[in-house]
Amino acid sequence: MAFALRVLVAVILVLFSWSAHSLSRDEFPSDFVFGASTSAYQVEGAANEDGRKPSIWDTFSHAGNANIYKGDGDVSCDGYHKYKEDVQLMANMGLDAYRFSISWSRLIPDGKGAINPKGLEYYNNLINELTSHGIQPHVTLHHWDLPQTLEDEYEGWISRKIVYDFTAYADVCFREFGDRVKYWTTVNEVNVFATFGYGFGTVPPQRCSPFSLANCSRGNSSTEPYLAAHHMLLAHASVARLYNKKYKGVQHGFIGLNVLTIGFVPLTNTSGDIIATQRAQDFWIRWVINPLTLGDYPDIMKKNVGSRLPSFTKEESNLIRNSIDFLGINFYNTFSVNNYPESLDMEDRTFMQDMAAEMTMLPENDTFIDAVLDTFKNDYGNLPIYIHENGFKTPHNSSLNDFSRIKYLHKYIGSIAKAIRNGSNLKGYFVWSFLDVFEILSGYEESLGLYYIDFKDPNLKRQPKLSAKWYSNFLKNKSVDPKIVMEIESDASLL
Ligand SMILES: *[C@@H]1O[C@H](CO)[C@@H](O)[C@H](O)[C@H]1NC(C)=O
Ligand SMILES: *[C@@H]1O[C@H](CO)[C@@H](O)[C@H](O)[C@H]1NC(C)=O
Ligand SMILES: *[C@@H]1O[C@H](CO)[C@@H](O)[C@H](O)[C@H]1NC(C)=O
Ligand SMILES: *[C@@H]1O[C@H](CO)[C@@H](O)[C@H](O)[C@H]1NC(C)=O
Ligand SMILES: *[C@@H]1O[C@H](CO)[C@@H](O)[C@H](O)[C@H]1NC(C)=O
Ligand SMILES: *[C@@H]1O[C@H](CO)[C@@H](O)[C@H](O)[C@H]1NC(C)=O
Ligand SMILES: *[C@@H]1O[C@H](CO)[C@@H](O)[C@H](O)[C@H]1NC(C)=O
Repeated sequence: MAFALRVLVAVILVLFSWSAHSLSRDEFPSDFVFGASTSAYQVEGAANEDGRKPSIWDTFSHAGNANIYKGDGDVSCDGYHKYKEDVQLMANMGLDAYRFSISWSRLIPDGKGAINPKGLEYYNNLINELTSHGIQPHVTLHHWDLPQTLEDEYEGWISRKIVYDFTAYADVCFREFGDRVKYWTTVNEVNVFATFGYGFGTVPPQRCSPFSLANCSRGNSSTEPYLAAHHMLLAHASVARLYNKKYKGVQHGFIGLNVLTIGFVPLTNTSGDIIATQRAQDFWIRWVINPLTLGDYPDIMKKNVGSRLPSFTKEESNLIRNSIDFLGINFYNTFSVNNYPESLDMEDRTFMQDMAAEMTMLPENDTFIDAVLDTFKNDYGNLPIYIHENGFKTPHNSSLNDFSRIKYLHKYIGSIAKAIRNGSNLKGYFVWSFLDVFEILSGYEESLGLYYIDFKDPNLKRQPKLSAKWYSNFLKNKSVDPKIVMEIESDASLL
C-alpha cells in the first residue's frame, strides 16, 4: 500500500512539475518584465480631495455613463490613500513592474498653469514606494481623463491647442518624476478613445452625431474621431521630441504610445471578406501604426475618408515617424469581419461606414493573439512591444477561486512565450487589472482584477483571488498549486 501510494505521489509530482515546466518564467528573457495595470480614475478615488479637479471621465460618470452602467470613480478602490498597502501587495506578489496613469487634473487641476502640490506629493510618494520595493513604474499620461477645464475651454482633443497643453503637462511629469520613471506612454488606446469617445459616444467625452448609439449633446461622428486621433498623434510626437531633446540624455527613459489591438478573421473565405479584414486592420491598427512608422495614414483611409481625414505636413510627418521607442498594446478580443461596401454610399459616414465592413465579436479564443503578434513582427517592423493590458472579465461578485481567469492568463502567457521564441520583439506583459476597478464599459458590475474588492466594505479590503496566487507562483518560479494544475489539465485544449 505504502509503495503504491508513493508511486502515486511520484506520478502526481511528475505531472505537476511537467505542468509547471510547460509554463515557466525561465522561458522568458531575463529582462522581460511582468506586471499588472490600473489607471488613475479607475483606482484612485479621492476625486474631490486635495485640489483635484474633474476630468471628462468624472463628468461622464456623473451624467450617467451614457446609460450603459452605473457608478463613478469618486471613491473606487481608494488607491489614493491605500497606495502603500497596494505596493506591498505587488511586492509580495513578485511583480517586476506596475503600470498606472497620472491624473492630469490631480497634478495640474486646470490642465495648464499651476501645479497642485498635493498631487505632486501623491505621485512622488507612489513612485518612491514602488522603486523602494524594486518595482518599475510604467506611467501613462492620458488614460481617458482629460481635464474638464480644457474640454470646456476649447473642446479638448478636437482642438489643436491640446498639443501645446499636453506637451507642457508631460514636461512637468518628466521634470518631476523622470529621475525614477523610465517608461512613459503618452496616450492609452488612441484608436478606441477616438472611435468610442468621438464616434459612438459611449465613453468620455461622449461626443457623437445625433444618429449615434449614445445621446450626445455635441459632436460629429463623421469628422471628430479622425481629428481627435490626429491631435493625439501630434501631441504624442511633440512630447517625444521634448523628451528626446531635453530629458533623454540624462534620464535615459523610453517613450511609447498605446493602441488596442484586435484579432481579425474574415467571416468567410470570399475575397470580399478577406479584403475587408485587411481594411479593418488598416482602419483600427494602421491608422495609428502607419504614422508612427511611415509618417502617414494608410491609403485606403485617405481614399474612403477623403477630406475628413486630416493630413500631416512634411514636417509633422517627419516628427511623428519613429517617435516611439516602444509600442504599448492592449489585447482582449477577436472579431470576424465581413465586407459591407454599401455603407460607402451613405452620407455623413462614420468610422465604421468608412471602413465598409461589419465586425462581430467572437468567443474568447487563444489562437488569435499569435496572429496579432505575428502581424506586428512581419508587417509593422517588429517594434519593441509591451503588452500593457490583457485579462479576463467575470461578474464582479463571482468566486474568488477564479479558475477561468487562471486558464486565460496561462494561455496568453504561454502564447507570448511561443511568440518570443519565434522572434517577436516583446518586452513585457501586464495583467489588467491589479485590483477590481471601476471599469470603462461595465462600471462595478464586471471585473478583471487579481484582487477582489467588496465596494460596499468601508475598508475596501483587498482579497486575493486564486489568480493572484497563481500569477505570484509563476513569477516566483514556484510550482503551481496542485488544485490549479488539476483544473488546468482537465481542459486538454490548454496544453
Ligand atoms: C525555475 O523552475 C524550473 C523548473 O520548473 C527550473 O528548471 C529552473 O532552474 C528554475 N529557475 C530558477 C531561476 O530558479
Ligand atoms: C459633420 O461635419 C461634416 C463636415 O464638416 C458636415 O458635412 C456634417 O454635416 C456634420 N455632421 C453633423 C451630424 O453635424
Ligand atoms: C436617449 O434619450 C432618449 C430621450 O431622452 C431616451 O428615451 C433614450 O433611452 C436615450 N438613449 C440612450 C442610449 O441613452
Ligand atoms: C477558409 O479556408 C481555410 C483554409 O483554406 C479553412 O481552414 C477555413 O475553415 C475556411 N473558413 C471558412 C469560414 O470557410
Ligand atoms: C478558436 O478558433 C479556432 C480557429 O478559428 C476555431 O477552430 C475554434 O473552434 C475556436 N474555439 C473557440 C472555443 O471558440
Ligand atoms: C452577485 O450580484 C448579483 C447582482 O447584484 C446578485 O444578484 C447575486 O446574487 C450576487 N451573487 C453572489 C454570489 O453574491
Ligand atoms: C513563426 O513565425 C512565422 C513567420 O512570422 C510564422 O509563419 C509561423 O507561423 C510562426 N510559428 C509559430 C509556431 O507561431
